[in-house]
Amino acid sequence: MEIFKTKEALKAYLKPLKASGKKVALVPTMGALHNGHISLIKLAQENADIIICSIFVNPTQFTDPKDLEKYPRPIEHDLAMLNDAGCNGVFMPNVAEMYPSGADENWHIDLGKAEFLLEGEFRKGHYQGVTQIVKKLFDAVEPDVAMFGQKDFQQVLMIKNMLAHFKLPIKIITCPIIREDDGLAMSSRNIHLSETDRKNALVLSKSLQFVADNFASYSLNELEKQAKSFYHNVEGVELDYFTIANGDTLEPSKSKDESNLVALVAAKVGNTRLIDNMIIK
Ligand code: PAF
Repeated sequence: MEIFKTKEALKAYLKPLKASGKKVALVPTMGALHNGHISLIKLAQENADIIICSIFVNPTQFTDPKDLEKYPRPIEHDLAMLNDAGCNGVFMPNVAEMYPSGADENWHIDLGKAEFLLEGEFRKGHYQGVTQIVKKLFDAVEPDVAMFGQKDFQQVLMIKNMLAHFKLPIKIITCPIIREDDGLAMSSRNIHLSETDRKNALVLSKSLQFVADNFASYSLNELEKQAKSFYHNVEGVELDYFTIANGDTLEPSKSKDESNLVALVAAKVGNTRLIDNMIIK
C-alpha cells in the first residue's frame, strides 16, 4: 500500500494507471477507521480497479474547536486496517497541503435549502466545510467513483449538490450503515462513549427501528411522537431532533405516500453527539 502526503505525489502515481484505463475510486475519511469504513473500501473494490483512501481531519467542517482537538487520530491502526483490506493508496496530507493559504480561505456555494436543516441547524457552516474539502480531494484524485456512508445521510445529499454545482463527472456510491450486533451504528465517535453512554446510545437505533417496523400501523405524527417518547426516560441522552423526512429535500414528510422517506435522528449521549438514520422506503 502506497502512502502519499502531497497532491503531486498522488497525481504522479495515478497518472499512468489512469492512462492504462484503470478505474479509480476515492474513499474520503477523517480516519479513526472502523468496519463501516472498511465496508466502503470493499464496495469500492467492486466498482473500481484502484482504491485511494484519504485520511484528513478537516478543520473547516468543525464548528466546535474542542471537537476538532479531541477527534481521534489512531493513524497506525488505520493504516493497518487499510492494508489488510487491500487498499492501494492512502492520501494523508497535512493542513497546509490542503489549505495553502490558510484554513480560513474563501469558500461558499449554494447547497440548497437542505443545508440549513437538521445538522445544518446545529452545526452552522458544517456542510460548506465538508463540500470545500471534498471538492479539494476530488481535484487531487479525479476519481471515477467516490464512496460515502449512508450514516451521514445529509452529507451525501450535500456532496451530490456540490457535484451538480461544479458539474463533476464522478459517480457517488452510498454504502449502507454498518451496525454493531446490538444495533448501534458504527462511528468514529463511539470511542468517546462510556460504558453507560454505550448502553444509552442504543435508544437511537431502537427509535428508528420502531418507525421502520410500525410504519404501516400509525400516522406520521404518531410515529414521530412515539419515537421521541423513547428518549423521555433515558438519563444522559439529549435529543436534538427526530424526524421522518423526504430523502431528497430533508423537509418533514407530509404524507406516507411520498416515495423517498427516511427517519433521521441526532442526540447527545453523555458528551458525545451521535447521528443515525433509517431509510423507511
Ligand atoms: O464523513 C467524513 O468523514 C468527512 O465528513 C469527509 C467526507 C471525509 C470530509 O472531511
